Amino acid sequence: MTGANDIRKAFLDFFGKNGHEVVPSAPLVPINDPTLLFTNAGMVPFKNLFTGAETRPYNRATSSQKCVRAGGKHNDLDNVGYTARHHTFFEMLGNFSFGDYFKENAIEFAWDLITKEYGINKDKLTVTVYHEDDEAFNLWRKIAGLSDDRIIRIATSDNFWSMGDTGPCGPCSEIFYDHGDHIWGGPPGSPEEDGDRFVEIWNLVFMQFEQLPGGERIALPKPSIDTGMGLERIAAVMQGTHDNYEIDTFRRLIEASIDVTKAPETDKTRASHRVIADHLRACSFLIADGVLPSNEGRGYVLRRIMRRAMRHAHLLGAKDLVMHQLAPTLVGEMGQAFPELGRAQALIQETLKLEESKFRTMLEKGLRLLDDELGKISDKDDLPGEVAFKLYDTYGFPLDLTQDALRSQGRKVEVQGFDAAMERQRAQARAAWSGSGDAATEKVWFDIKDKAGATEFVGYSTERAEGQIVAIVKDGDEVDEAKAGDEVSIVTNQTPFYGESGGQMGDAGTLKGANGRADVTDTQKMIGALHVHRAKLLDGSLKVGEALDMVVDGERRAKLRANHSATHVLHEVLRQRLGEHVTQKGSLVAPDRLRFDISHQKALSDEEILDVEREVNRVVRENAAVETRLLSYDEAIEAGAMALFGEKYGDEVRVVSMGEGAGGRQHYSVELCGGTHVRRLGDIGTFTIVSESAVSAGVRRIEALTGAAALDYLLTQQRLLKEAAATLKAAPTDLSDRISGLQAERKTLEKELADARKKAALGGGAAAGPATKEIGGIKFLGQVLDGISPKDLRGLADESKKKLGSGVVSFIAVNDGKGAVLVGVTDDLKDRVSAVDLVRVAAAAIGGQGGGGRPDMAQAGGPDGDKAADAIKAIEDTLAAI
Ligand code: ALA
Repeated sequence: MTGANDIRKAFLDFFGKNGHEVVPSAPLVPINDPTLLFTNAGMVPFKNLFTGAETRPYNRATSSQKCVRAGGKHNDLDNVGYTARHHTFFEMLGNFSFGDYFKENAIEFAWDLITKEYGINKDKLTVTVYHEDDEAFNLWRKIAGLSDDRIIRIATSDNFWSMGDTGPCGPCSEIFYDHGDHIWGGPPGSPEEDGDRFVEIWNLVFMQFEQLPGGERIALPKPSIDTGMGLERIAAVMQGTHDNYEIDTFRRLIEASIDVTKAPETDKTRASHRVIADHLRACSFLIADGVLPSNEGRGYVLRRIMRRAMRHAHLLGAKDLVMHQLAPTLVGEMGQAFPELGRAQALIQETLKLEESKFRTMLEKGLRLLDDELGKISDKDDLPGEVAFKLYDTYGFPLDLTQDALRSQGRKVEVQGFDAAMERQRAQARAAWSGSGDAATEKVWFDIKDKAGATEFVGYSTERAEGQIVAIVKDGDEVDEAKAGDEVSIVTNQTPFYGESGGQMGDAGTLKGANGRADVTDTQKMIGALHVHRAKLLDGSLKVGEALDMVVDGERRAKLRANHSATHVLHEVLRQRLGEHVTQKGSLVAPDRLRFDISHQKALSDEEILDVEREVNRVVRENAAVETRLLSYDEAIEAGAMALFGEKYGDEVRVVSMGEGAGGRQHYSVELCGGTHVRRLGDIGTFTIVSESAVSAGVRRIEALTGAAALDYLLTQQRLLKEAAATLKAAPTDLSDRISGLQAERKTLEKELADARKKAALGGGAAAGPATKEIGGIKFLGQVLDGISPKDLRGLADESKKKLGSGVVSFIAVNDGKGAVLVGVTDDLKDRVSAVDLVRVAAAAIGGQGGGGRPDMAQAGGPDGDKAADAIKAIEDTLAAI
């Protein structure tokens, strides 16, 4: 039992047997702790159990926790490769008691495991206790039987452990292994303690306090235990070496590095191989836990680690890209204990390869520049900060990479100059920013970004995380505190809330602090960097510096995801069905619907819409996984990603692929997108288009629904159809025929009715008007008609004219109190008497003006229908005067 994998297993088995819950390692990104960059100790995932903020069904636990110490309080990056024990990534074995056992049991367990299970010679062990901790001192004497000179009291912070600037803490007791006098070094507390002879292998922390922001330290609800033993260190002890890089896991990684770089291991190359092996682990585990290289926050730490390893591969003279070739060896070594590593292997390799190929060319140029600049200064001078900044800005050299490159020459970088150059660049970027253009409102966001950096978005993989408030903005100004009822904008260092961008609306949800709660109605992304939560305080208060429990409204987010993924599928379906000319002209992804504008000349026909709906639903039903990757822009385009014309993309892009492709294509849809998506397309549920319309020339707008909203819509339509069918007493399938039939029937009836009315008007009946008169030798038929439509007057006049043979006819239709006059004159008379003149006379009688037409037929109207008889009379008088 000496392989690292066996040692880990024996540890977990031992504590499992002793009543501890065996808990899998938590991710390296501590979503429950915004104050930490990375999980840096085994106790981090249990932090809230120590403070009593959370309870679980167990009060003893054990784990082998992945840890990264690169950045923040515990940062070992600069030393890695040059010492026997520093790592960026390591595993911490630990046992924990949450208010259950305390010092005595902790010491007993540790002693048993080390001396019995692991069989380590007790004479090789020395322990330390915090100088005031007599209890621990006596327990070691009693349990381990150690002589007083091997229980060393230490007064410094070495024996008082804290997680970070805040959080649980307490005095601790450390167990040291003596690697023997052939190695330089002295016992803890001695001047030679930093040597490699006496190595701390296990730290037992007697958790008793919680450090609060602002310096106050309070007692934990119950004394607890947190222990940490570096797996690599104990493996070194058990494998008979004092050097962690000589243990089985590292040997295999170093051998692989030798193999791939073709650089044999020598005193000169040793550090580089170690850096590569160590950094490979850190990078791969970080990528597997969702961190991707970027220029901000955690992503930037990852990039720094990657680039440092890549410089060392270059130092070794490696011709090929190195890092991605080593990933399979790592997965082979550690993939069983950490299955996430195997699952992410493709992503790890792809990311490492991309970063290394991008960095390679810059590295050579940058190192040349560095050499040139060093040639200009004396051997003793520090490298000017300006030069280090140029290396950073132009060649992507993180500051620590430049410092590492100078290390072998015993030189340093003039850091102040570097910082000043960085500050100057920030100021320029701010001046050049062309956002909304409202400099006054944007100033506050720039100030916050300069102070706190960009917000880290952790919401692709979680909808709940803790974040620390870095700023509160009220009415445009920064304030320290928000109180109940206030409407404010809150910025945190990390957030699971998506900030509106790329057409996808921002998230809503709730924020909870120690003393207050707020509703978030919207989240905006400001100056491309800050997620700004628009919040209303429900009660209590929230203060800058406080940690928040941030919970996204999951139901709403699920709808946003479905609508966003459906938009991608729709886009591709439209291109396939309507043609490649279809491109996105605009997009809105809201929780209740999606809106998609496309370039297309004509309206979609009903058949086309149905066809598009069927095809989208077919793709949805295939239920393929949605994949997200980070690629270089060129690679993404090569992979078939649709980039939006006129959009600005960075040199690295997030690529969202979904669905199964056909005809040699791997995926149905590949797009560059920063939005949130469903995990599998089946999560979209149902898709339906509710409208298709024109936005402007050549641009069509489609509005559609997904999921329950789509189903509700379709069910409502179905219900309405059924109701209509029931009203008509027809089957829904016959409805359309029945309606056409009814429409035709109505037309016939209307015609029959009009005919009947005309007949009644002309042919006597009850409302028959006066018969034809002769006035001055001209036959005249004048009649007032109630309830006849003005549009029927012309037909009536024509018929009457025919009947008269020669004469003048006039009809006045009275409807709703108004009169419409029509006068007809047979052709033989139209030189003597004009219909236009007569209609004007009639119109005047009913209060109207004018009138128009031809000499044989003219029309006019007037408001006073009740004077229609006077109008007839006026025509008669006119005729009589001719
Ligand atoms: N949390 C303790 C440490 O990291 C055990 O050393």
